[in-house]
Amino acid sequence: MCGIVGYFGLREAAPLLIDGLQKLEYRGYDSAGVAISNEEGIKVSKCKGRLANLESKLIETPLKGNVGIGHTRWATHGEPSDVNSHPHSNSKISISVVHNGIIENYLKLREWLISKGYEFLSETDTEVIPNLIDYYYEGNLIEAVMKAVSSMEGSYAIGVICSKEPDKLVAVRKDSPLIVGLGKNESFIASDIPAVLNHTRDIYLLEDKEFVVLTQQGVTLLNEMGEEITKEPYHVTWNADAAEKGGYEDFMLKEIHEQPKAIKDTMASRISLDHDIILDKITITKENLKEIDRIFMVACGTAYHAAVVGKYAIEKLAKIPVEVDIASEFRYREPLITEKSLVIVVSQSGETADTLAVLRDSKKKGARVIAVTNVVGSSVSREADDVLYTWAGPEIAVASTKAYVTQLIAMYIIALHFAALKESLSSEEIYDIKKAMLELPTLAEETLENKDVLQKFADQTYMERDMFFLGRGLDYAVSMEGSLKLKEISYIHSEAYAGGELKHGPIALIEKGTVVIACVTQSYLADKMVSNIKEVVTRGAKVIAIALEGNTDIEKSVDSVIYLPKTLDILTPVLSVIPLQLIAYYVAKQKACDVDKPRNLAKSVTVE
Ligand code: F6R
Repeated sequence: MCGIVGYFGLREAAPLLIDGLQKLEYRGYDSAGVAISNEEGIKVSKCKGRLANLESKLIETPLKGNVGIGHTRWATHGEPSDVNSHPHSNSKISISVVHNGIIENYLKLREWLISKGYEFLSETDTEVIPNLIDYYYEGNLIEAVMKAVSSMEGSYAIGVICSKEPDKLVAVRKDSPLIVGLGKNESFIASDIPAVLNHTRDIYLLEDKEFVVLTQQGVTLLNEMGEEITKEPYHVTWNADAAEKGGYEDFMLKEIHEQPKAIKDTMASRISLDHDIILDKITITKENLKEIDRIFMVACGTAYHAAVVGKYAIEKLAKIPVEVDIASEFRYREPLITEKSLVIVVSQSGETADTLAVLRDSKKKGARVIAVTNVVGSSVSREADDVLYTWAGPEIAVASTKAYVTQLIAMYIIALHFAALKESLSSEEIYDIKKAMLELPTLAEETLENKDVLQKFADQTYMERDMFFLGRGLDYAVSMEGSLKLKEISYIHSEAYAGGELKHGPIALIEKGTVVIACVTQSYLADKMVSNIKEVVTRGAKVIAIALEGNTDIEKSVDSVIYLPKTLDILTPVLSVIPLQLIAYYVAKQKACDVDKPRNLAKSVTVE
């Protein structure tokens, strides 16, 4: 995600900020910028693209000063562009801010600030922050920042400089990481430790709502009441390589653990119990929807598996018929697309060749196209009629994990939005689903705690040549994703079957010791799945089940069970995929595979 660096000291700030931002490049970004303060005021330099572009700009027009903030931006609100890059400032450029996170109530704040005479240049949520601070500023920067953040909802790590107090850098965090580097006669802020490791190994790890003020006298920490607090510095003993992975062994494991936050971010500002679903870039109206006779959902790989869940969700909640297909098949099978079709393409990267081709063909045939993508400004986002961004942040491991769960959330959001437009669900039913969705980040955290059984399962099975995944309904959709994860990172052959299909062929493969992973989270299909499990157990299969808490009966039929916290049947894929990702991960680690870069695979498939 975005990277923040701030410097206060005796050295020139600009090169130090660039150096720190380079250490955060692994987080992914599409634009970069710095703001430097000196006696003459604040000067900002920022641009779209790589850090090298910013460096060239700074060579042409150097910014001098010993206090500054820098940022690498991964676009969420607004395209990657010079104007949307951070730092953002008030119109007098007396206050500049870098920000990571999402300000959920930014639209409200923006309207309110406009009514007070403030002007906005960018499409970002961040731009409200310097203007809010300006509004509250009465000669004391820290007080103004405290007042501003008390009106902000959402997640943030921010660094602030002010031309009226050039001897100060103020920062604060909530639900977004921020650390303080303690150097000799200098100090730093950063969103991650690698950014400061060239200069210091002593850091403060800020907690939510803790403020920090960097001055010539040193570093002052304050709580949300403005009272000074003390903290033990943390001495970093690991190297920058390990730090990039946030203490996890691999990016994949880190990204699996980022899922609760990714789920929360993707719902942020869109789903709330107080208001209807807000979809910034989907403008389909009730009338448009009435004219649509069929939805096609098209994608590749993991994104296709999310689309399969989308089909279930849209048909069940919005009662619109949905066809789901793999993009490479769909584009050559002469699908019956007309002006009455709605095509939803799902793509993490937004650049997958087959998916993009489907989008273009569909538009030529007069269909309306919605893109669900994780990359702002990607080809599908530019070419589609409507866009729903998943806010998973950059995914570095080749095997998709957090992008998949956020695609699922996007599917539910679209299904609920259509259900509301079509009035196929009552407002009480929509309320109940939204309520259950808002619980998912916490339930995903709980699901991640279940690692010991999964690790043990991996220890016992990593030498297998084949594994089978079984499920019915949405459990079948998730089984396909679990099977793909296992084969792509552990190179173990695996297949996912719909429980009811077993008898039609695949059961011939089951013999003594065959490993079967059975998903049994759909209450209305549980009995049928238990029958399928019995069919394989009778033939000697070793079965691990993924079931919902309370379904202890399942223990009688299988060798081990992973329990998931209870949620609505329709939402279980968001949780049930987590143990499947972890099984794939632990099996691959046991086999000493490179989980982040599996053989023969690329992160973005831009050729056919
Ligand atoms: C598997 C995986 C791939 C992608 C597929 C589509 O872990 O990541 O199957 O899902 O290549 O990519 P996007 O979503 O970028 O279109």
